[in-house]
Amino acid sequence: RRKIIVDTDPGVDDALTIFAALLCPEVEVIGLTTIFGNVPTAKATKNALGLLELAGRTDVPVASGSPCTFTGEEKLRIADFVHGDDGLGNTGELKPPPTATELGVSASQFIIDTAEKHPGEVIVLALGPLTNLAMALKEKPDLALHSIVCLGGAFRVNGNVNPSAEANIFCDPEAADFVFGGSVDMHVIPLDVTQRCVFSNMDLDLLEAKGGTLGKYMKDISQFYADFHKTTYNLNGLMLHDPTAFIAIVRPDLFFWKSGPIRVSCEGIAKGMTVMDMNKKVWRGPNQWSGRKHMKVALEVDEGAVVGAIRDTLLSQEPQ
Ligand code: BDR
Ligand code: CA
Repeated sequence: RRKIIVDTDPGVDDALTIFAALLCPEVEVIGLTTIFGNVPTAKATKNALGLLELAGRTDVPVASGSPCTFTGEEKLRIADFVHGDDGLGNTGELKPPPTATELGVSASQFIIDTAEKHPGEVIVLALGPLTNLAMALKEKPDLALHSIVCLGGAFRVNGNVNPSAEANIFCDPEAADFVFGGSVDMHVIPLDVTQRCVFSNMDLDLLEAKGGTLGKYMKDISQFYADFHKTTYNLNGLMLHDPTAFIAIVRPDLFFWKSGPIRVSCEGIAKGMTVMDMNKKVWRGPNQWSGRKHMKVALEVDEGAVVGAIRDTLLSQEPQ
């Protein structure tokens, strides 16, 4: 079983992903680390603890992440209009459960410690801005993770914050550029594929009918997020951004991958834009992509199979 740390800003699609990861027998969730994005970091930590309590998995430790960006910016972009004020569809904030463990170490330190304990074995599934990972890599450039699988970027399609940028990258572009330039192998799951993986309202009804207490809760929190999709994209259903990134860990064969060095634009109208060099041979002389590790980006997807895999996982038995 692959060991994974979920670095997350819950967040409705984050919550679905945390449940999927806990329910999936092929992975072992060894910790959650939190970050701002859909909510500020403190709320993300509270939500992570509450979601573990709901899943009956208070044994999974939670490490709270950075309250500000990689460069120390405290003014953050928070997507409460997508996920609700509480990050969970305005269903009422989960109380911090008395039995869940919030570790006394920071998210970046937890990532460093875990990589040292299990060198080359741990995948970080990054579902929010890449701040914690950038901090960990700054401190330990040779961080011995197996890989980072991240939800982020838009390579051949428009972003979702503006035409240039996807939200997780936009919220901390310097962190993303640092991590893309780092030593750890990455699988990047961008909007190109995630916006094609959609749960219909029927899928939500199925979760409610067949998914037990967690299934009902998932349908509840998804309502606000589904309304956002209806008003913003005229879509009947919701995009499964973060759950799709999770499926890429267990079913990488459902994606078409292309690899190359990646840069992130950090300012101007293209702030947060992700650009991969897909034409390595044509440039004359070195450029700002030269010397970077080649990361894998998912550019195509079997969306029916991915949605099916997410549905099956969420409808499987009690959390392992
Ligand atoms: C990403 O932004 C957040 O709203 C979602 O949780 C997802 O991680 C999609 O751009
Ligand atoms: Ca997220």
